[in-house]
Amino acid sequence: MTQVTNTVRFVLDSQIVEVKGERRTTTVLDYLREELRKTGTKEGCAEGDCGACVVLVGELNAQGTGVDYVPVNSCIQLLPTLDGKALKTVESLTHADGRMHPVQEAMVACHGSQCGFCTPGIVMSLVHMVQKNQSPSRIEITDALSGNLCRCTGYKPIIDAAQLACQSKDRLSFDDAKDVELLKEIRRSEHPTMSLEGEVIVQPVVRTRKGNEFVSPATLMEVAHYMVEHPQATLLAGSSEIGLQVNKEFKRPDHIVYLGNVKELRGISDTPTAWRIGAMESIESVKDYFARSLPDFSEVLRRFGSPPIRATATLAGNIANGSPIGDSMPCLMALSAQLVLRHGKETRRVRLDEFYVGQKKTVLKGGEFIEAIEIPKLKPAQHFKAHKVSKRFEQDISATCAALSFELIEGRIKNAKLAYNGLAPSPCRAPKIESVLEGRLVGEISADEIDQAIANSFVARDGLRATWKYRSLVARNLVIKFIDSVKVEESAV
Ligand SMILES: Cc1cc2nc3c(=O)[nH]c(=O)nc-3n(C[C@H](O)[C@H](O)[C@H](O)COP(=O)(O)OP(=O)(O)OC[C@H]3O[C@@H](n4cnc5c(N)ncnc54)[C@H](O)[C@@H]3O)c2cc1C
Ligand code: FES
Ligand code: FES
Repeated sequence: MTQVTNTVRFVLDSQIVEVKGERRTTTVLDYLREELRKTGTKEGCAEGDCGACVVLVGELNAQGTGVDYVPVNSCIQLLPTLDGKALKTVESLTHADGRMHPVQEAMVACHGSQCGFCTPGIVMSLVHMVQKNQSPSRIEITDALSGNLCRCTGYKPIIDAAQLACQSKDRLSFDDAKDVELLKEIRRSEHPTMSLEGEVIVQPVVRTRKGNEFVSPATLMEVAHYMVEHPQATLLAGSSEIGLQVNKEFKRPDHIVYLGNVKELRGISDTPTAWRIGAMESIESVKDYFARSLPDFSEVLRRFGSPPIRATATLAGNIANGSPIGDSMPCLMALSAQLVLRHGKETRRVRLDEFYVGQKKTVLKGGEFIEAIEIPKLKPAQHFKAHKVSKRFEQDISATCAALSFELIEGRIKNAKLAYNGLAPSPCRAPKIESVLEGRLVGEISADEIDQAIANSFVARDGLRATWKYRSLVARNLVIKFIDSVKVEESAV
């Protein structure tokens, strides 16, 4: 039996909860249901798919005046990540005078619940939406609900309930005043602990008797130091992969290094020539940031998982995980992105299209990690197109996702960069197809030429999500679609 020497502290229902003795891999959902007996939050799939377990996790905003909440799948979020944060469950919604939240009242009024198993998660997703948007369009409501599966009621009454709740604007927002004060009380230190000899000491949030740890450093220096000392440690970002490994594969990493409190790994900045995305930036914030400058990239990310997955999952986690059907990588490869990799005090830059050396194998060395992702800005004549093809629009895995960037100079394609997922053991560029496009007039490329280049580039294999026949057809059609759409845009100018 593991013994824990440290404490996880978080704010729940305007009280500080101190947790001692939990494992480093206990999930937030298990803790809520089994220890706190807050059984409103349900377990459906235990893999981030159904949304029955959605809770809200909050952090002090930058000004320290309020709490920013994100929806989180509590089934795949590890409890020690809550240290220093605030949590709201469906039980937190009851008003001091005993009334339910307006979203809950509207769900009753609109008959938005039958068996009720999905209802707490649906309510939490909608309550999160109304913290930010109290006049949602129908499409914004369906987007907010895209990570919540209801298999008996049907979505119409639920969407009606969301619209009804927003009509009054009364009691929709949380009153954060007390939570702000408590969050300040349990705020984690922003400075590393140093020994008298000037050595960095990374304080564990959880340490077991065997010496296994969950650490949550505050600075990049601490992460780098810890990773040099423990090169086999598991980095934890949004937990949308690690949470599944814990629940489904019963993995129990010895040391876990949570990156969520490292300020230097957050934020997106830009220079006149490039964007830099910190390794802890969520898919949701990257999606929002690039909505104007790279709309196709943003649209691919809108189709990534669901709101709770996007709120926690990071771009760096997607890249490091290296799944053959990872969605961000084709876009980033076509955009010539490079990774800033850190090992101790040293950094190096590696092009993303040279990062993978096999299925889920990368050039990362022991103790090295992704610090940031850099994307060069588009040149004036450069176009970027991307599209994800999957059976369902939301919350589905790609059959393939393709991305193409090229310059159009006097009607000819120059510097074509084309990348796919789903066609090879890792997301990759397609240089033989790029050669077909290079220097050609947009109207003169035939489907047969692209088909031939696809056949010469990839090993034909059927997958669980699509046959090779389908994937290769989609791969060819997307190239034609991308080029045609630029042709149409150019002729409209
Ligand atoms: C329900 C569901 C839907 C999903 N939908 C999609 C989808 O539509 N498209 C898609 O591409 N993926 C999808 N995924 C997969 C997953 O969400 C992504 O791969 C996600 O981006 C992983 O990021 P994370 O921050 O959650 O990573 P984590 O789970 O925290 O970590 C993933 C891996 O990356 C490593 N890692 C994390 N940060 C770093 C770093 N800075 N440096 C080095 N290594 C690091 C970890 O050690 C781990 O090996 C889905 C997953 C779920 C559960
Ligand atoms: S239980 Fe299904 S998403 Fe968490
Ligand atoms: S009410 Fe039964 S699953 Fe939604």
